[in-house]
Amino acid sequence: MDSLHWSVNKDVDNLKGYPQIREAARLLQSNQVVAFPTETVYGLGANALSDDAVAKIYEAKGRPSDNPLIVHIAELQQLEELVDSIPAHAHLLMKEFWPGPLTLIFPKKAGVVSEKVTAGLDTIAVRMPDHPVALALISAARLPIAAPSANRSGKPSPTTARHVATDLDGRVAGILDGGPTGVGLESTVVDCTGEVPIILRPGGISMEDIEKVIGNVLAGPLSPNQMEIPKSPGMKYKHYAPVAPLYLLDGEPSWIQSMIDQKRRDGLKVGIMSTTENTHYYNADLVLECGSRMDLQSVAHHLYEVLRKFDEVPLDCIFSEVFPDSGIGAAIMNRLDKAAGHHWIRQKD
Ligand code: TXA
Ligand code: MG
Repeated sequence: MDSLHWSVNKDVDNLKGYPQIREAARLLQSNQVVAFPTETVYGLGANALSDDAVAKIYEAKGRPSDNPLIVHIAELQQLEELVDSIPAHAHLLMKEFWPGPLTLIFPKKAGVVSEKVTAGLDTIAVRMPDHPVALALISAARLPIAAPSANRSGKPSPTTARHVATDLDGRVAGILDGGPTGVGLESTVVDCTGEVPIILRPGGISMEDIEKVIGNVLAGPLSPNQMEIPKSPGMKYKHYAPVAPLYLLDGEPSWIQSMIDQKRRDGLKVGIMSTTENTHYYNADLVLECGSRMDLQSVAHHLYEVLRKFDEVPLDCIFSEVFPDSGIGAAIMNRLDKAAGHHWIRQKD
């Protein structure tokens, strides 16, 4: 199929009335899949009420069907149609962070969304994105929209429409370009169905931010072998990985350079993901900067783009610096750890 490409300026008034948004919404209503920008990453949307539409998401992405999808809404009213009840913690979190990069897990109302959305679970993940194009599209379609990140399964999530096209052109009905996304990493996923909320996936809203609103929460296990049955099924798959193997190097830049030198003496081509502060230390086959240590939001914003860029040059291995595991750093390290298949090398080891 030929994918339609539309471009919209996210800052204009009355986006809902724009022909690009109306055409994309009509495609969603006819159970086609459409990629659209959110404040986190680009999503691949489909009518959450239709088996047929949701099946097309899994097919386009090559995604295992036991990994459930997040349902995106534009108004709070839509939530009541999807969930059985709203836990008290969820009320507080929605009030503080919606619209925004926070996905909440609720007890599901039976028989509403396609079983393919929830992959057989009796819970449902919902979020209200903080992006004018996403909100206009969902409102214009007048549907709850199931949307995973708009990448081929296993690849880094797309933060520009060009990334989406690289992965999915010809596999989806349309791609709506609203410019680069903001946060750059996916939403935080919080399970509110139990007594103590659990962060299943760290993301755009930090644990510290959440605890300010509802007190203590639990952090979900970071690696799949730490849990018997994954609470969030997506956690057990390899994610975000560049083609060349990635290693996380926990140590001083001078030690990192000695590791690069050693590999290059062995005849290997080495890439390094560096921060602005340390770039001048490195001499490698490809040095890519992902942002500043003084501003971890900038690292989150660039991370996926840089991981994708490493694929444009033939490399034998990629090294990356590591970051403090708090605030947005926790989300950055969660993605990097998965992209590296949990491979760490520590200076002191
Ligand atoms: O920022 C985001 O969240 C982006 C944009 C497009 O909204 N979406 C996104 O979707 O990252 P996806 O499919 O890549 O990740 C959804 C995550 C997966 O880890 C999945 O296992 C989890 O949410 N999830 C979905 N439904 C769930 C449920 N009922 N219980 C537990 N985890 C769930
Ligand atoms: Mg994803």
